[in-house]
Amino acid sequence: MMKLTREEKLMLDGKFGKSVKKAIEILIALGKIYNAERMVRIGSAQISGISYKNIGDAGIEFLEEFLSDAKVRVKATINPCGMDTEKWKSLKISNKFAEKQFRIINLFKKIGVGIDCSCTPYLIGNKPGFNEHIAWSESSAIVYANSVLGARTNRESGISALAAAITGRTPMYGYHLDENRRANFLINVKCKLESISDFAALGYIVGNKIGNNIPYFRGIERVDGDKLKALGASMAASGAIALYHIENITPEAKIKNMLRSEFREITIESIDDAYIKLNSTRDREIDLVAIGCPHLSINEIEYIANLLKDKKVVTKLWLMTSRKTMELAMKRNLIERIVRSGAEVISDTCLLVMPIENLKIKTIATNSGKLSFYLPSYCNIDVRFGSIEKCIRSALTGVWGD
Ligand code: F3S
Repeated sequence: MMKLTREEKLMLDGKFGKSVKKAIEILIALGKIYNAERMVRIGSAQISGISYKNIGDAGIEFLEEFLSDAKVRVKATINPCGMDTEKWKSLKISNKFAEKQFRIINLFKKIGVGIDCSCTPYLIGNKPGFNEHIAWSESSAIVYANSVLGARTNRESGISALAAAITGRTPMYGYHLDENRRANFLINVKCKLESISDFAALGYIVGNKIGNNIPYFRGIERVDGDKLKALGASMAASGAIALYHIENITPEAKIKNMLRSEFREITIESIDDAYIKLNSTRDREIDLVAIGCPHLSINEIEYIANLLKDKKVVTKLWLMTSRKTMELAMKRNLIERIVRSGAEVISDTCLLVMPIENLKIKTIATNSGKLSFYLPSYCNIDVRFGSIEKCIRSALTGVWGD
């Protein structure tokens, strides 16, 4: 039985209203499943399951009922929704879809959730500190927060993250506890990794090999946040990995031994196999080039804007990012350069949660391991996977070069 504080008991008794009561009931049930002894206070929540495409009318009804008298107790943000909230018409989103999507967003807004719809909240103001307990539910953001920032979150569902936002708590188990944060797989990386897509390819291989275990990488020397973002997103997709360590690089691995006394060892000699597997087709015709899964950082946007300078795309090119990052890029005149090339910057959404079938797309080119992993099965769309440079080249020439 979980030990509850006085305030948590009052929540359960309904003293703080219906929504809080329901939320703490959900968290207690979750805690029981995982044998949590108590709740822990959290610094922030990040909530997925926002797109009308995914949750439908039943989801809206559930949220209206659940959130009837709710207010969040901690900083909370939401994941990408089903459309760009400003240019949805030009993306062939129907009025009905848009009306339902705005209804969902407004439900969150009303209870105090920040409505920047993004899977990279840590780039735009929801950035937890080292050792901070949080409750996040976007898989790529979870693995980034745990590994790169050293914060502590389990892989929450949209509902449990929302319940955590409303109560300011989450059950204390799993990755919140020191003893569950050490790695049980040593990954010796023997090959050279250069581009962001190389890190996505490595993530795909490791996730496939070790499932939802914790890898400890040895042999990665030079890396930046964008590469770590891609590595984690890929591993979270192919293997449900929520935490990784890199020797001398990630914060916990810098200060103590994060490898268990007993571990299994894998050596990665090459990432070529991932480049073969993540290309679901040999087709050279591309309908859409999409870069920004997870959402692009300002550095990535700047890099792409430079690649596009004074050039024109012949294939549709979408750059996906958060609205705040897009606004920052606008101030730096990067958006102007991108738009002049014929490319588009899309905010608030992502290809997996948009009603993309309206666009009649057969093949997408991307540098994202996560998107390449999911698009064929989720959306029945083929993928060409390669570096940013190769993706941009295909947008400029109209074909995927081998
Ligand atoms: Fe983000 Fe969507 Fe990719 S939520 S990580 S852009 S699949």
